Amino acid sequence: MTHEIAVVPGDGIGTEVTPAAVEVLAALDLPLEFVSGEAGDGAAAEYGDPLPEETRELVAEADATLFGAAGETAADVILPLRSIVGSYANVRPARAYPGVDALAPETDLVFVRENTEGVYAGLEQEVVDGVRTLTRVVTEDASEQIAEFGFQYAKRNGYDRVTIAHKANVMRQTDGLFLDTAERVGQDRGADYDTMLMDALATDIVMHPDSYGVVICPNLAGDVLSDLAAGLVGGLGLLPSANVGDENALFEPVHGSAPDIAGEGVANPAATVLSAAMLLDYLEYGEAADRVRDAVEGVLADGPRTPDLGGDASTADVTDAIIDRL
Ligand code: NAI
Ligand code: MG
Repeated sequence: MTHEIAVVPGDGIGTEVTPAAVEVLAALDLPLEFVSGEAGDGAAAEYGDPLPEETRELVAEADATLFGAAGETAADVILPLRSIVGSYANVRPARAYPGVDALAPETDLVFVRENTEGVYAGLEQEVVDGVRTLTRVVTEDASEQIAEFGFQYAKRNGYDRVTIAHKANVMRQTDGLFLDTAERVGQDRGADYDTMLMDALATDIVMHPDSYGVVICPNLAGDVLSDLAAGLVGGLGLLPSANVGDENALFEPVHGSAPDIAGEGVANPAATVLSAAMLLDYLEYGEAADRVRDAVEGVLADGPRTPDLGGDASTADVTDAIIDRL
């Protein structure tokens, strides 16, 4: 059976690293078919819509999507795309690799972030001039779904420690529900876990990153904590992510369109190639996914490296080196 992959490069370095990751996927000799769609600032300028209907349909119908990055229109692109694939879990691994000058070289952490509600539910309003409010939404269903996903992910991927991040001492109702629900899921599964206040967790992740495994987080906490962890492992050029739903999924680097280096051909393709490896896992090509990860790790260890990692190689040099190692 052929799997159809929607490829949406977007803007800036998205148009450089996404084709690089597709080259890597194509080199694996798997039954994958690629169909491209447009999105982002470029699409907005050309069609008056950052996420044209054609692209929405392409993503909805594909078996999985590989997305690059959008620029100023990012929120108008990535939020609807995540919802089109029905994604409720945002998975963000933050791993330090040998050969990369990381602040915390032992880090191997995975943030499993609730992706649909919390303070990102989009319910903001101006009450009167000078006063604005936001409604935070936490449901038992979404909390249960993300906790189930997190515990299952930890078990499948061999992580011993599961930590539930929360701030239920202050947000007693909303995070109280998140925490109680996630704990119940852990207990029902007979799993080991601990719970941490998210602010104390931020400190402890910096001081003892190697002691954590999977961290199950409400939406905003997962966004902030995973970027913090990116800083510990060597920067945004290395962090992949998955947005997973029950029947569809979208994979993307954590970084944006990087206008400061776009067009120079020097963007690090690793984050997007590692996102493509997560896509292979999702389609149950686990062996191919491991081959891709091994190849990326080998190149990170021995070079060539792009300038963000202190090298002087181009995106194409690094991509060719990854493909040579497959
Ligand atoms: P950014 O992630 O694009 O760049 C931050 C810094 O990291 C820049 O110095 C950049 O050169 C560097 N960097 C990022 N990825 C890199 C890579 N693969 N190789 C080498 N260096 C890399 O974030 P920034 O600058 O805050 O945002 C730029 C644009 O991207 C904005 O318009 C923003 O809206 C958009 N954005 C889009 C996202 C998405 O599409 N998911 C996510 C984050 C930002
Ligand atoms: Mg973010």
